[in-house]
Amino acid sequence: MDLKSIREEARKKLKGYCRVCPVCDGRACAGEVPGMGGTGTGTAFRANLEALSRYRLNMRTIHNAKEVNTTCRLFGMDLDTPVLAAPMTGTTYNMGGALSEKEFISMIVSGSHRAGSIGLTGDGADPAMYDSGIEAVAAERGWGIPIIKPRAQQEIINRIRTAEKAGAAAVGVDIDGAGLVTMALKGQPVGPKTKEEIRELVSATELPFILKGIMTVDEAEIAAEAGCAAIVVSNHGGRILDHTPGAAEVLPAIVKAVGDKLTILADGGVRSGVDVIKLLALGADAVLVGRPLVVGAFGGGAEGVKLIIDQYTNELKQAMILTGTSSLSAISDKIIYK
Ligand SMILES: Cc1cc2nc3c(=O)[nH]c(=O)nc-3n(C[C@H](O)[C@H](O)[C@H](O)COP(=O)(O)O)c2cc1C
Repeated sequence: MDLKSIREEARKKLKGYCRVCPVCDGRACAGEVPGMGGTGTGTAFRANLEALSRYRLNMRTIHNAKEVNTTCRLFGMDLDTPVLAAPMTGTTYNMGGALSEKEFISMIVSGSHRAGSIGLTGDGADPAMYDSGIEAVAAERGWGIPIIKPRAQQEIINRIRTAEKAGAAAVGVDIDGAGLVTMALKGQPVGPKTKEEIRELVSATELPFILKGIMTVDEAEIAAEAGCAAIVVSNHGGRILDHTPGAAEVLPAIVKAVGDKLTILADGGVRSGVDVIKLLALGADAVLVGRPLVVGAFGGGAEGVKLIIDQYTNELKQAMILTGTSSLSAISDKIIYK
């Protein structure tokens, strides 16, 4: 199995939903939500890639960083790579249904584990979405992180309990899911949360609590004050609100404000190991990859997911050698060309 055959197979299986473009940049699929695109004009999806491409790297080759180390520790787990799988759901209405929710998420979670990483799982209007994620996490003996929609408080707490029973490493809420009308239409309302409500969720569990979908400094500060262990700086792949900035644009200011208080993950538009090193240089502790892993799963199953994470990790290693950074902690904004 190689990347070419994975992409060819994925193109067949995702027909009508994802064109498996040479670069997954949100142009061809603009407005396709449900589907794989960004919402509205697709600008917010594209902004993620544009923001990343605006940063340039200083190349350095006179140094002793001949061997590089991509290991990191997150939520008490030792990982071989800072490239994690983003939570994704909706295999029928977003991805065309060639895989069931259960098949898809088990490929994501086990493929990530095989790559020395960890997969996040999502939540949606159909209970099968969250439950399939939980089953996949349990099958990997807790090696996964369920992310719950911003439902009513008790609904979230019930799902936190299921995550705890599955032995999950951490748990979280994609607070930006507050904008999903599809959930309300299916009788499962979601909405924004107050700081007190977030604090209540944080204290409902011993697990590290992650807030996904933070795009402003003030909300990152609220997450820290509410006791969250981590945030994901993310515009949900541009799928929630049109015309948001790219994650890489807002990340530096957020890191400056709360980088010493919280673990900071970031996602949106990561399409290579060079994109990974850029987000790490801007202050992320690890990154999530979304759509390219849908291609991996549909085109090559768990092994396809592993292959894509491995590729990004190998590209990251190469970029570390060429920027003179021997470990993730050595990666700083000094490698960004100003
Ligand atoms: C088809 C699809 C489904 C998604 N479902 C969820 C979800 O259930 N929960 C969630 O927190 N994020 C969800 N996301 C957002 C991703 O977790 C992630 O933030 C985003 O896809 C990252 O951008 P990228 O795809 O450009 O890498 C979804 C994204 C896509 C493309």
